[in-house]
Order: sequence, then structure tokens, then C-alpha cells
Amino acid sequence: MKLKKIMLGMSLMTLPLLAQETQKKPVYLNPTKPIEERVEDALQRMTLEEKIGVIHAQSKFSSAGVPRLGIPELWMTDGPHGIRPEVLWDEWEQAGWTNDSCIAFPALTCLAATWNEDMSLLYGKSIGEEARYREKDVLLGPGVNIYRTPLNGRNFEYMGEDPFLAARMVVPYIKGVQANGVATCVKHYALNNQEFNRHTSNVILDDRALHEIYLPAFKAAVQEGKTWTIMGAYNLYKGEHACHNQYLINDILRRDWGFDGAVVSDWGGTHDTRQAITNGLDLEFGSWTDGLTMGATNAYDNYYLASPYLKLIQSGEFGTKELDNKVRRVLRLGFRTAMNNEKPLGSLNSPEHGAAGKKISEEGIVLLQNKNNVLPIDLSKAKKIAVIGENALKMMTVGGGSSSLKVKYEISPFDGLKTRIGSQAQVVYARGYVGDPSGSYNGVISGQDLTETRSFDELLAEAVEVAKTADYVVFIGGLNKSKHQDCEDSDRLGLELPYQQDKVISELAKVNKNLIVVNISGNAVAMPWVNEVPAIVQGWYLGSEAGNALASILVGDANPSGKLPFTFPVKLDDVAAHRLGEYPGNKEELARSTSKKDTINVSYNEGLFVGYRFTDKNKIKTLFPFGHGLSYTSFAYDKPVADKNTMSVNDKITFTVKVKNTGNRTGKEVVQLYISDKKSSLPRPIKELKGFAKVELAAGEEKEVSFTIAKEALSFYNDKTAEWVAEPGKFEAVIAASATDIKGVVPFELK
Ligand code: GLC
Repeated sequence: MKLKKIMLGMSLMTLPLLAQETQKKPVYLNPTKPIEERVEDALQRMTLEEKIGVIHAQSKFSSAGVPRLGIPELWMTDGPHGIRPEVLWDEWEQAGWTNDSCIAFPALTCLAATWNEDMSLLYGKSIGEEARYREKDVLLGPGVNIYRTPLNGRNFEYMGEDPFLAARMVVPYIKGVQANGVATCVKHYALNNQEFNRHTSNVILDDRALHEIYLPAFKAAVQEGKTWTIMGAYNLYKGEHACHNQYLINDILRRDWGFDGAVVSDWGGTHDTRQAITNGLDLEFGSWTDGLTMGATNAYDNYYLASPYLKLIQSGEFGTKELDNKVRRVLRLGFRTAMNNEKPLGSLNSPEHGAAGKKISEEGIVLLQNKNNVLPIDLSKAKKIAVIGENALKMMTVGGGSSSLKVKYEISPFDGLKTRIGSQAQVVYARGYVGDPSGSYNGVISGQDLTETRSFDELLAEAVEVAKTADYVVFIGGLNKSKHQDCEDSDRLGLELPYQQDKVISELAKVNKNLIVVNISGNAVAMPWVNEVPAIVQGWYLGSEAGNALASILVGDANPSGKLPFTFPVKLDDVAAHRLGEYPGNKEELARSTSKKDTINVSYNEGLFVGYRFTDKNKIKTLFPFGHGLSYTSFAYDKPVADKNTMSVNDKITFTVKVKNTGNRTGKEVVQLYISDKKSSLPRPIKELKGFAKVELAAGEEKEVSFTIAKEALSFYNDKTAEWVAEPGKFEAVIAASATDIKGVVPFELK
């Protein structure tokens, strides 16, 4: 008791001292003070050189703090799917640390395919904990560039073709990451929709397409997600590089959207000091690099926002107004991250993170086709299962560009299947084809030896032989993040599967009726064999738990509930960017261009009509439509109803539909709401996604799903008046299970 009294006395005595201590601390170091006061206090203590020092890189992935004042450096890390391994101070090559392996989460196309905002929050929380544990202040992701062409090398890092889906799915990811005191850096702002000529393409498009298609996900990231940083894109818009662009940064991002965070350049995206000063760039990284491999050494003092900027101030051409605003935003970022006293400690490679990756994968894998209910694999019948294809073995977490990782582990599809069914059935393997036998990126090696001496014909013969006597054949192919096969800085060269996979698949289909094709990719591919193959699964790049998630879906432990976040066209000419152009750029300019430095114009002639907006308008039959995905159970929809049939502009309207699980096992369905404006003064798509809800139903269970919308869901961007407008008139609410699977239509009127 006595001891307690003494302790209490002690603490009572020390308390005022502590309080005095805190009060004595300068404001910028006092965590009880509001951030804005701390920013101003720190700013006025900094010298001109110190201010210049904090607005550009000091190493490949860090920017300087103010050592004299105890203001810490800021550390950036890729990427959207996991925490990139440490590189040397001024190199892209590995630093060779042994504590920087990570969990690879599934690619963001898979996250989008879950159509489940809870999965996005789980994803952000998990990857944010890994970034926090690795002491990183900014996570260079997520990417939300719209899927304009299936040839774009980086679509696997993004969230599909629809702005509403991408906007809903990016917000929880941001919140999950930033709850760890780590900033997200939503990228690439904006109009980076291809990798071909990514540094020199000047995108030309109408304002409606810009505001209705390409900006909404970024706007949601800023206004709802409250992202603390945004990354400028490489390409140009209106003749200015996106990293220092008057329209995108000063007018839209800052003035219209009220963004208070920092704008970070892409690595090598800065090209002009004066533009960087006046057009809102705050943190210059990677100048003179291609963002991946080559780069100038230790040029940090020569960065556009380094001594060249200092000289312009010293010459009197510029004052310090712009500089102080840049420093304010960098300091604000620092107080939210590096100097955030409340942030949690994070964790790395935890079982929880592995489980999160597996769950997100299981929710994102899409069952595209399942004739004769070949799937799920019936283990009571399966005595021998043939697994065919290089992607059943090949590590997918190494490669693909800046999102490449050094993982703690990666379960291959073959290993996942062996683990899950090896005790009940014989699992045999045949390669079937040779794709990309390499397995290293920036010095990270997969450790796999995929060298192959046999000819294609020998490999094909072996695969067919193995398939003949199997109860099931699981072909696992697709793309593989090597050059031109879903990879940064290189677009695909066509829609077809590479490496003669179509031939292998057709031959397998001839010898086994229980053929399942799993396509591992971040893009749509052509499927000339679609009518020969009973079961088709879109497998995505699934990260560390790939094999376990895939096996779980194929044997039916998990019931697939993913839906496509982009259209699978039958052929490239069915894609607006290819039918109407321009892709990959203005033909004449490309033909006469003599240097890689030449700016090439890329006109988005299709305007708003991207993805299902284009196939709807032109009545184009798709291979598989946006929003498509099957289940091992079935669902019935009742007739949808509305709570009113006319609404005023400041009103809300609610649509309700009953959905019933008419199968014999629990499943999840994504009920989609599209809005159709029956008459408008400007052209509009036939319908546009304006709501979705993922609902779990036990066998026989029925639930009511409702959507409440307001005028925003009816509005389009009027580029004449530069404002969003909902025009009075007739509308329809379209309840659907995909862009073409319409379950019911409810007419209503806006007064
Ligand atoms: C790359 C990418 C960007 C990445 C950055 C750092 O070139 O475009 O997404 O975060 O440079 O690696």
C-alpha cells in the first residue's frame, strides 16, 4: 500500500514536469498542437536551402527531412500489391537485405473483381501494416487508371473499366492503409492508360470523357478516401506533363477538389523547373530515370526542384510563395506519417496477412463458364488429375515492373492443388508449352529453373498423353508479367494468348471432356476455344496464397463470387480504342517520328464509350461481359420496385429487389444497379453502373437488396457549362447480374 502511495506521489510530482516539458517543446514538436500550427511553426524555422531540400529526392526512394530541426526524412515504397524489397541508395538493384520479404496480395484487378468494399478495407489494412512495419511513410499505390485497352501492360495494377466501380473500391483501400500512419499515393494522375510511349504521349480527349470516365476514381480517392498524396503520371495532357500540369493539378485537383495533400512525381516524370514550380508539384522523384532500370547517378542537387529552383529564387525571378506552399504540404505529409505519434506498429508476413490475401483472392476469382457443372471438381470421382501449363508452376510475384516483389512465400497453383487433393487423387503435371523461363527482376530471383530443351510438339504430345487418362484436366496458362505479357513499360502486342496456348487447349479439349482452363492474367484474352472448353476460370495474379485460393475454388471449398471488372471482347476490333482509335497514337506522327523523345498525340476518339458503354451502344456481342461471374449455386431475382415513380432533383429514390439462392449451397451474388437516361441533351451511354451490393445467401435463403440514389447518379458532365447536371425526364433503373444479364427494369421520372 505504502509503495503505491509513493508511486502515486511520484507520478503526481512528475506529471507537471512532463506537462512543462511538453509546453516547453517548440510547437512543431508538440503532438498536442494542431497539425496546421505545427506546419507553420516548422516552416518559419527553416532556411531557404532546407526548404529546397525537402521537396525532392535524396535517394531512389527517400526525400530529405531537416536534420537540424529533427524533422525526419520521408521514405516511399512500391507498390500496390506488396512492399517492394529494399534497393541500394541510388540504384534500382537490390540492397540485399534479409528482413524485407513480404506477403504478396492479389493484383488490384482481383480486388476490383471482388466487388466487395470490405475486401478493399481488409486489403488496405493488411498492406498498410506491412508498409508501417517496414518503416515506410508513403505507399506508392493504389493505381486507378481506367482500362481503355486490353493491351495496356499495367491494367493488372488497376481496377477495371468502370469509374464507379473503381471509385467505390479505391476508397476503403486508402482508409485501411492510412489508418497505419502510412500515406497512399494514388496513381497515375491522370490519363496513363497505356505503357507504349508512356513518357511522351500527349492525351487528347473531350472534357466529358475526362470527368465522367477518367477522373471519378481519383476524385473519390481525394474527397472520400482523403488520400495524403497523389502521383502525377508520365504522359502529357494539353501539352504539359501530368506531374506539373496546370489543369490537372492547380485547377481540378487543388481548386475544384480541395486536395490538401502532396503531389509526388512519377519516377522521371518531371521535365521543367518553371512548370514544376507553378503547377503544383511538391515532391520530385526519380528524375532522369525511366522509372524502372536506367537512371542518372546521384543527380539529386541537379533535380529540377533543387539547385535550378534555388537559382531562380536567388535571381529574383521567383519569390518563395510557391516554395512555402510546397513545403507546407510536405510538412503536413510528414506530420501525418513520419511524425505521427499515434500510429500503430504494423506487422509483416503475419498469418493474418496470408489469410487476407487468400480471402480476397477467393472473392475475386471469376468463374466465367461452367458447362455440365464440371466444376467444382468432384473428389469422390477424381482419381487422377492432370495439371497442364507453365503458369501452374511459374512464380508470378517476380516481374511485371515496379510492382515486382520479394515474397516470404508463394504457393503455386500446382502446389496448392497438390496440397489440397494430393492425398485423395493422383496429381500429375505436364508443361504443355514454354512461355518465359526467366525468373528475376531488379536482382530478385524466383529460384525456379524453368529451362526447357524439348520442342513444342514434344511438350504438346506429353500433355495430351497425360490428359487422355485423367479424370480432370486443369490447364493453367495465360500471361506472365514478362515483357509484353502484362508488364510495365510494355503493352501487349495482341489479344491472343501467347506461346501457342490456344493449340494446347484445343488439343486437350479433344481428349478430355472435363477440361478446366484457368487464365492467369490482368487483362482480357481471346478465347477461340471457348465453345470447346466446358469450364473457364479467370485466375488473376493472386500473390502469395495463389495456389491455395485457386485450389479452394476449384474443389469447391469456396464458392466463386467474383465478377469481371472489365469486358472480355471477342476480338480487338470490338474495343472502342482500337475500332475508333487512337491507339497507340496518331499514325502519321508515329510514322514520321525519328526520336523516342518526340511527343505523340493520342486522341481518345471513343470519348465516354469505353468498355460496356461501347458494346451496349454498338450492340457488340462480348465474349464475357463486364460484371459477369458465375457461382456453384444459382440465384433468382424478383421484380424490382421503386418507392416512388417520380422524384424531384433534391429527392432520393430507392429501388428494392428480392434475391433468392435457388441452389443447394451458400453463395454470394453481386446485384448491380445501372441507370439509363432515356432522353438527354448530350449523348449518353445506354446505361451506367451506379450501385452494387454483394449479398451472401444460404441455400434457399431470400434477401431484399435496396439501392438509394440521388441526382448525382442521374447526372452527366456538361462540358459547355463545366458542371454536372441531372436533366428532368424519363430514366430507368436496371437491376442486373452483369452488363448483359438484365433481371428487371424500373422506369421513373425526374421532375
Ligand atoms: C515507376 C512507376 C510507378 C512507380 C515508380 C517507382 O516507373 O510508373 O508506378 O511507383 O516508378 O518505382
